[in-house]
Amino acid sequence: MRGRRATALTVLLLGACSGKQSAMAPSGPNAEAILDIGWIMLWGGTAIFAVVMALTLYVLFRDSNRPWRLGNRSLIVGGGVVFPILALTVLLAYTVKIGGELAAHEPEALRVEVTGKMWWWDVLYPGDSDVYAGSPDVPGFSTANEIRIPVDRPIELVLTSDNVIHSFWIPSIAGKIDMIPGHVNRKVIEASAPGAYRGQCAEFCGVQHAWMAFDLIAMEPDAFDAWLRKQREPARVPELPLLIRGQKLFLSTGCGACHRVRGLEGANGVIGPDLTHVGARTSLAGGMFPNTVGAFAGWIASAQHLKPGNGMPSFDVLTGVELRALSAYLESLE
Ligand code: CUA
Repeated sequence: MRGRRATALTVLLLGACSGKQSAMAPSGPNAEAILDIGWIMLWGGTAIFAVVMALTLYVLFRDSNRPWRLGNRSLIVGGGVVFPILALTVLLAYTVKIGGELAAHEPEALRVEVTGKMWWWDVLYPGDSDVYAGSPDVPGFSTANEIRIPVDRPIELVLTSDNVIHSFWIPSIAGKIDMIPGHVNRKVIEASAPGAYRGQCAEFCGVQHAWMAFDLIAMEPDAFDAWLRKQREPARVPELPLLIRGQKLFLSTGCGACHRVRGLEGANGVIGPDLTHVGARTSLAGGMFPNTVGAFAGWIASAQHLKPGNGMPSFDVLTGVELRALSAYLESLE
């Protein structure tokens, strides 16, 4: 029984060390540097703790007939004053140096602007930035709850909030940084391997703080360029009767007042996420659900039940058939 408990505890502890949201599984220079600091602190602290414990045991259990060896003045001054000052100074210099490197500006970086919402992430790829396509005339676009980047290339995140303070954190890629209303913070990140990494708001920002997540998807450069080209295009025009019906419902239900679908007249809202290519995203509702027709229909019908307090009303007046058409249309917007 005890063995089983110990195994369960070990699995639980180690289980937190891998996966797509773990500072212990770094996948970029920023997170690797932070993990290095962590290991140095851990092993240095462990070594010092072991020495202090050994000295304590020596004092407690020493043979009192033998001469006392720890009263030596130079040992007390050396171990009690000089060593701590030296160790802490070296540690401070090291962390200040790493901190400076992590905060360094990178002029060649691709820029992505992320705004913290309640409780989701608005992600803007600005069009004026010629680093994206060699042309300053390329239109920008917005997406939500998903940041795609090419691997091995520095990305400058421009971070802010238009409501309360949030904190942007992708443990496998970089340390956290606050998103503050009326203030812009910048952070350069880089992913060294393709994959999906989970990000999470790391500052309590209201009742749905725990459900304010997103995916960072690092892609090979060719795949990233293809994704960029696709995202810049206007939304797909529906051809199947079910999807045409869904689009009509989208407009008649008033979805376009809060959501933008580029290319669709009457859908220019900016309160909620841009839905131009929502079908191509991995998740819905700030990382809460997988992006499927069923989850989408459930979200539209019961957003306030599933995530109370969020900005999306529950459209429970729609029938099952209508919900199916509407969510099929949205899923078709790839
Ligand atoms: Cu946003 Cu916590």
